[in-house]
Amino acid sequence: MLTKIEKRLCQSAISVRQNAYAPYSKFKVGVAILDDTENLHLGVNVENAAYPQGTCAEAGAISAMIASGGKQIKLIAVSGGGLELCTPCGGCRQKIREFASLQTTVLICDEEKFEERFTLEALIPASFGPKNLF
Ligand code: THU
Repeated sequence: MLTKIEKRLCQSAISVRQNAYAPYSKFKVGVAILDDTENLHLGVNVENAAYPQGTCAEAGAISAMIASGGKQIKLIAVSGGGLELCTPCGGCRQKIREFASLQTTVLICDEEKFEERFTLEALIPASFGPKNLF
């Protein structure tokens, strides 16, 4: 079951996914972030002919959040295709970890609907974070 805001976030991730630029992998990903001040930030993967220069949807959404003054990820939804659950890649788990608490919910959607929820801690256990540097 999803709360109203969770449903809205999933719908946003699913709909922004259509704008992804993924001509090489054909694997489109959309992300929606709700920040601590209830603002919504969107991201999509943006690939490049020089393959390693492509960027993930999570990175785009985090960048949008930071650029508009958001500080903390309250809730995040990821939408992707394929037969498997489109959970964030390892690098993106770490990027999310920078701006979220370990209890933050990560909602995973396919191309059209919510599939499964995780805590961030379940996706990146025993993680390294900002406090490690003190
Ligand atoms: N991708 C994301 O945008 N986020 C992830 O967490 C996993 C992978 C993108 C990168 C690439 O453009 C495509 O999906 C295939 O890997």
